[in-house]
Amino acid sequence: MEKVEDVFATNDPWASPTQQVFTVIGIVFVSYKIFTFWRMIASLFILPGKSLSKFGREGTWVVVTGASDGIGKEYSLQLAAKTYNIVLVSRTKSKLDALASEIQEKYKVQTKVYAMDFAANKDSDYKALNKLISDLDISVLINNVGQSHSIPVPFNETTESEMKDIITINCMGTLRVTQLITPGMIQRKRGLILTMGSFGGLTPTPLLATYSGSKAFLQHWSTALSAELAPYNIHVQLVQSYLVTSAMSKIRRSSALIPNPKQFVKAALSRLGRSGGAQGMAGTSTPYWSHGIMHWAIQSFVGTMSGIVLNINKSMHEDIRKRALRKAEREAKKSS
Ligand SMILES: NC(=O)c1ccc[n+]([C@@H]2O[C@H](COP(=O)([O-])OP(=O)(O)OC[C@H]3O[C@@H](n4cnc5c(N)ncnc54)[C@H](OP(=O)(O)O)[C@@H]3O)[C@@H](O)[C@H]2O)c1
Ligand SMILES: *[C@@H]1O[C@H](CO)[C@@H](O)[C@H](O)[C@H]1NC(C)=O
Ligand SMILES: *[C@@H]1O[C@H](CO)[C@@H](O)[C@H](O)[C@H]1NC(C)=O
Repeated sequence: MEKVEDVFATNDPWASPTQQVFTVIGIVFVSYKIFTFWRMIASLFILPGKSLSKFGREGTWVVVTGASDGIGKEYSLQLAAKTYNIVLVSRTKSKLDALASEIQEKYKVQTKVYAMDFAANKDSDYKALNKLISDLDISVLINNVGQSHSIPVPFNETTESEMKDIITINCMGTLRVTQLITPGMIQRKRGLILTMGSFGGLTPTPLLATYSGSKAFLQHWSTALSAELAPYNIHVQLVQSYLVTSAMSKIRRSSALIPNPKQFVKAALSRLGRSGGAQGMAGTSTPYWSHGIMHWAIQSFVGTMSGIVLNINKSMHEDIRKRALRKAEREAKKSS
């Protein structure tokens, strides 16, 4: 019988064909990872994004949903600063009016506002919005409106109204607004449609199951649409993001991992058409540098659907729920 030592007895690594095959596979695998790492770094830090003027010159219009606060408000301000006119859509009329005045004063561009509750899903709202925008040369649509669970919650304890609102706002709202805007873009043969995704949808997220599903829906819908509209010179991109400071995330202090909306939107607008951390995902971008590296690492080493990530996220959100419940309890005691 051949002894094990005899097989490996030589110092020449090219001696056995099996060793040769595995050496080559190993080198190819490691080289590929190194290549995608540098491609991601170049995409996040070095290569310029597409210029906005490719989608419509200054003075054309931008439509932003969920425009009155957080990330949507920043998209509105930064696009107005580039002298686009802005249509602001969200729930609270007073906040929209205040932002419209601020934009007109600071940037001398035109604004229009429309207040509607996307959760109500009223035909009359979409008709009125269509009337407001039908004569405008719209270059950019920012599908930003979104709602999450008020706190992480087991699916069986999720109220029907929260469940319905999340799906109606995040999915139906985005579909219906996009259907109003695309015919004009197709006619003009140019446009940019950015939709806010979330790491909550990139990795399945226990205790935010409905929100997670709604953002995963947007990922597939948006990427599918990007292929349909590419022949018309319309760029459709899902914008992936980990946490950003805002009313929704309930995080006030920014950090390396958690930018404020201003930093986030600046990264998104300067990296148009670049994948950033979303390497290998068509029509998708993870533009903020630390989110991008996190995305690349999850995707490269474990996979977004992996059981390990799923369990990390489960305990993370169980923890957030516990803290949120304790805080609610303290506040209830204080007020009684
Ligand atoms: N913040 C994060 O950590 C984070 C991370 C990943 C992805 N995102 C996504 O980014 C988007 C914006 O989030 P954000 O953090 O900027 O949220 P935010 O600060 O809470 O702002 C939400 C905006 O949407 C509007 N809105 C909410 N519900 C609405 C409804 N039913 N009808 C009409 N307008 C409504 C709000 O209007 P009112 O002010 O009138 O209520 C507000 O203008 C969302 O799609 C979210 O899923 C956020
Ligand atoms: C809901 O499911 C969770 C497990 O996810 C369980 O701990 C809880 O007791 C259930 N609640 C109800 C009301 O059935
Ligand atoms: C899920 O866990 C991974 C790994 O820790 C993390 O990078 C990702 O951001 C988490 N997802 C959410 C929605 O927090």
